[in-house]
Amino acid sequence: MPDSRLWWQDAVCYQIYVRSFADSDGDGVGDLAGITSRLPYLADLGVDAVWLTPFYTSPQADHGYDVADYRDVDPLFGRLDDFDAMLAAAHDLGLRVIVDVVPNHSSSAHAWFEAALAARPGTPERARYLFRDGRDNGTPPNNWQSVFGGPAWTQVPDGQWYLHLFDATQPDFDWDNPEVGDEFESVLRFWLDRGVDGFRIDVAHGLFKEPGLPDVEAEQNVGGIDEAMSELDRPYWDQPGVHDVYRRWHDVIASYPGDRMAVAEAWVSSAESMARYVRPDELQQAFNFHWLEAEWSADEFRRVVDETFAAVDPVGAAATWVLSNHDVDRHVSRFGGGSVGLARARAATAMMLALPGSAYVYAGEELGLPQADVPAEARQDPTWRRGAGIGRDGCRVPMPWSGTASPYGFGPDGATPWLPQPDSWAALSVEAQQGDEASTLELYRRLIATRRELLPQLGRRVAFVDTRDDVVALRRDGLICVVNCGDEVFDLTALADPGKLVVATGHTADVRNGSLPPDTAAWLHA
Ligand code: GLC
Repeated sequence: MPDSRLWWQDAVCYQIYVRSFADSDGDGVGDLAGITSRLPYLADLGVDAVWLTPFYTSPQADHGYDVADYRDVDPLFGRLDDFDAMLAAAHDLGLRVIVDVVPNHSSSAHAWFEAALAARPGTPERARYLFRDGRDNGTPPNNWQSVFGGPAWTQVPDGQWYLHLFDATQPDFDWDNPEVGDEFESVLRFWLDRGVDGFRIDVAHGLFKEPGLPDVEAEQNVGGIDEAMSELDRPYWDQPGVHDVYRRWHDVIASYPGDRMAVAEAWVSSAESMARYVRPDELQQAFNFHWLEAEWSADEFRRVVDETFAAVDPVGAAATWVLSNHDVDRHVSRFGGGSVGLARARAATAMMLALPGSAYVYAGEELGLPQADVPAEARQDPTWRRGAGIGRDGCRVPMPWSGTASPYGFGPDGATPWLPQPDSWAALSVEAQQGDEASTLELYRRLIATRRELLPQLGRRVAFVDTRDDVVALRRDGLICVVNCGDEVFDLTALADPGKLVVATGHTADVRNGSLPPDTAAWLHA
């Protein structure tokens, strides 16, 4: 029998990209009141928690990941009252709420950075960020490149340079300065006092930089967010000091009632490095990006599952699983797009939801949304502006809720969403899929409901059942999840004790007869 569990260890968490979920006031941008109005949909979908991307005061240079005031709501999204109302409504529906915290950098419009610019070199105001003199030849202090492309340093009028691993409007804090740690403890307390259930920690593997800020090898200077975030052998990622910060945060979070938690966005090189963030005295979770990076391949899936448990089991942590978020191409498109990509995405989701641990679902994936093709003139991602590829706008296009034309119920009729919605999305709206058993929305509902129903009987162990090399079959107590990653139908009757079919991601009648087609998953239960 399973051991006693904390809510987040098996939670299905739904990520809301706040700008793109629901626009209550018709300005084209999603907001907190819009989220509140759609919470019943999420309760009905069956998720346990929502994670909201930053809604704090911000010039929106990186759509909220450039925070000017960590303790207030940007007027674009509402007011603190709207946050409180959203939180109360979520709690009434039994949904937990996780908010983003952005500790690696602030906005250049933050009061501290404005004070730093107004102050002279060498002053305490400058010491909260990473200001340095340039080299004698007038070049920046070192050769680091921004994750968003271009140099990671910008010069100020008195000649000093400041470090920004992301956009020039996102100056990095100096975490060796104790004032920074104290400030973030106070920010956590501010939101914990308001009643949030947890935090998602942005760039949790950043924060500390190797002393002396050494140059990187020239060939390490890759631009582009995906490469840059996953090029990990760098003097600014995963430095040992981060773990002291998370031990302190652990204690802050644990001092509040109600099993609150934090999940790290830590892009690290191995499952072992990831596991260091979830040691018993650190954070509760770290996103398992190795799962998101896996290709459509039975070998890859088995490898990531094995490595994940091999890493998290020794530290006693629960695994996490994620296939899509606001920074990467949606998994329908990563797995090939079109009907094949959609079939694979549905099957991969079925496998994710069968695994022990918590799963993060990104708004719109329950509709099977593909990556949208955002025309160049409409793109807004700073990575596009800085020349690091086409950017992330394609996974951030506002949700289609209803109707046959944009804004598809995302905002009031006549409102123009901040990114254009494709014409083809009428067929993908919530309204279009609701009640259609073959739809992706109804599949997610079924998977999540079945998971919830079976969970009390399911433990934390999974074992692979020997089948064909291109088929993943995993057994978790009475549940078997079989995914056909190959080109040929797989005969389910070949399994010992297959049990009864409870969910299939496609061709249900065939699967019931024992034939699992390619790109399809089935859940069987004894
Ligand atoms: C994280 C966020 C991403 C943001 C970056 C800088 O990777 O997920 O959206 O641009 O940090 O804050």
